Amino acid sequence: MIKKQDLINLDNEDVLSPFRNEFHLPENTYYFDGNSLGMAPKITHEKMRKVIVNEWGQGVIRSWIDHEWGISPQRIGNKIARLIGAEDGEVIAADSTSINIFKMIAAALQSNPGRQVVLTEKDNFPTDLYMMQGLENFTPNQISSKIVSSSDLIDSLDESVAALLLSEVNYKTGSIAQMKEITQKAHHKGIMVIWDLSHSVGSIPVNLNDCLVDFAVGCGYKFLNGGPGAPAFLFAAKRHHHKIEPILSGWFGHADPFAFSEQYTPAKDVTRLMCGTPPLLGLIALECGVDILLRADINLLREKAKKLGSIFIDLIEEKCKNLDFLLASPRDNSKRGGHVSLSHPHGFALSRALVERGVVCDFRTPDIVRFGITPLYMRYQDLYDAVEIIADVAKSTNWEEQDATVALYT
Ligand SMILES: Cc1ncc(COP(=O)(O)O)c(C=O)c1O
Repeated sequence: MIKKQDLINLDNEDVLSPFRNEFHLPENTYYFDGNSLGMAPKITHEKMRKVIVNEWGQGVIRSWIDHEWGISPQRIGNKIARLIGAEDGEVIAADSTSINIFKMIAAALQSNPGRQVVLTEKDNFPTDLYMMQGLENFTPNQISSKIVSSSDLIDSLDESVAALLLSEVNYKTGSIAQMKEITQKAHHKGIMVIWDLSHSVGSIPVNLNDCLVDFAVGCGYKFLNGGPGAPAFLFAAKRHHHKIEPILSGWFGHADPFAFSEQYTPAKDVTRLMCGTPPLLGLIALECGVDILLRADINLLREKAKKLGSIFIDLIEEKCKNLDFLLASPRDNSKRGGHVSLSHPHGFALSRALVERGVVCDFRTPDIVRFGITPLYMRYQDLYDAVEIIADVAKSTNWEEQDATVALYT
């Protein structure tokens, strides 16, 4: 039996515990949604104030140079590169993940002439599938998307495939794909590989160059704590830069934007994958979140997250017996990323009832309740209290009434 005091002891020994104090903590809340929207770092508030009042307020347009606003996509990209095993000049902070997926699929197709299939698996995040479908609709004779079940994925890697697009950590189950092994298998068939790191970056150690990954994208608002709608990032391995003729050929990807020339000439490096004016305020907020992660050490965070996730599962099994929960994530914590998913026949209603009681989790169809594990600001003892609430809600809720109420809002 797990005792709360044992968990308090773990908190007292936790070398990462001081980081919790660097975040605004919502009152009466057990926050299990940092895999969807990370919490607000206190420094972001201070830094944004400085940027708005001083840099924008006083410096106005001069701040693009005086305060290095103009090079923030590259500067922040280089910082994110350190979290994902990339080099300086391979990552840029820009646009949304969806838009970056579009750019990377196009780049992969250009780097692999003569092939037109873009492959992914059915349970990849929907926007990944949608961006593939959008490109296919735009140029049906040049691109065809192929969406297969996970069990058929490896057998589908053949010489017709130009690009493979996968998420490293599955958004529903949290299971971790074998990046190195899959990339190698795809390369063996001459396929370019694009990894969506939205649920990996800032949560698990990633080493793109060690895995010889071609392209990658990821979100800034989840484990990077960059704020709602934070800019995303993209990675393109240096060996591909010269082959990419950006389809979204905006002026910020130009070799010399302020020459205002009539002809588009892409910048030499990853900058060619930028499009329009960078969203400076969002980038500065993102940088605050990234800086905290760089100080925290991703390996220590990962070890704590594994332990938190396993204790959470043990507590659920202990306190929520016969309450219809099933573990939908891998039990082996080396195979599970930054969230634990439980299926429940009344998952949506349950997730809403939990949020009402201060256990902020989320729901993914058809019946998955997701609990994000965020070791920067999560305490072991909170798991104990949160699971007591989960058990109480699951025992006491009148599901028929609850489902009917929920139906009114959906
Ligand atoms: C794996 C994955 N990819 C992409 C996205 C969406 O990214 P964006 O809304 O920034 O385009 C999400 C959002 O949750 C996601 O989980």
